[in-house]
Amino acid sequence: MSGALESAAEPDRNFPRAAAIAREAGARLREFLAAGVETEYKGDVDLVTVADRASEKLIRARLGEAFPAHGIFGEEGTRERLEAPFRWYVDPLDGTTNFAHGFPQFCVSMGLEHRPAGDGPGGDGTLIAAVVYDPTRDELFTAERGRGAFLNGKPIHVSAVPQLAEALIATGFPSRKRHASPNIHFYHEFTLRSHGVRRAGSAALDLAYVACGRMDAFWEFNLNPWDTAAGILLVMEAGGRVTGFSGGRWRLKGDEMLASNGLIHEELIGLFCDMFAGRGLAPIPTPEEFARNRDRRTKGKRDQEGSS
Ligand code: IPD
Ligand code: CA
Ligand code: CA
Repeated sequence: MSGALESAAEPDRNFPRAAAIAREAGARLREFLAAGVETEYKGDVDLVTVADRASEKLIRARLGEAFPAHGIFGEEGTRERLEAPFRWYVDPLDGTTNFAHGFPQFCVSMGLEHRPAGDGPGGDGTLIAAVVYDPTRDELFTAERGRGAFLNGKPIHVSAVPQLAEALIATGFPSRKRHASPNIHFYHEFTLRSHGVRRAGSAALDLAYVACGRMDAFWEFNLNPWDTAAGILLVMEAGGRVTGFSGGRWRLKGDEMLASNGLIHEELIGLFCDMFAGRGLAPIPTPEEFARNRDRRTKGKRDQEGSS
């Protein structure tokens, strides 16, 4: 292992620094939230505020001090040392629309990728560290490749929910080209086949919630690396699975993001494949069938517990 990778993979040296940076940026966001901020438009309904920019400026400066050899790729325009073998993907405020409305669901997200020399500019490297900080709940999610995932220092794990019918899942909708998104059709199907679909407005927190078992799965179209780099590693290190909609390898800049507790992943992929192929789906159960299936599952669980 190279010296740089050892250092990048050494939690005692790196995590406190990265976590402290996310906490400091989160504290700034809390101040901006309390003071109130003007909203600007980057696009149709794509919002940005002074808080997004100030948070990125702070993170850029602090990462530069702490890891002067690392690259930085931030949503608000930071592009530094992109040829470096280590690169931070930074979303300085994930959930800007929520923030702008005072809806307390947003975070700072920072994911560290290792990109071995010789890798083309397009390919993804290996995700090695993740920090997602929710300043309104003071919740810090961290993960490091091969060392597990944590919430405020305590180990976290994905849920044990075995099927979609018992799952709480999450999705999001784009703020750019939103008329072109097919997601509402998927939202409809998944809503009627699960306990429900939440659209809370912060993809990084959605992924962190899958990692700690508050949600059982998450999907979204057309996310960016700053939205997902940290969350992907959190889910994988918490024992979950991350792929595209047909089960292929996840991509940082991909059109498809599917993350789950692993147990319901194949069922979700099956539904995506059928919908994309325009196949007739199994009819959505009527309320009576749903209740019968639930009773059958409860009885199955009781029998299992009785026999063990
Ligand atoms: C957005 C949030 C949202 C997701 C959008 C993202 P931003 O990020 O993660 O949940 O649905 O696709 O663009 O713009 O608030 O950083
Ligand atoms: Ca984002
Ligand atoms: Ca953002």
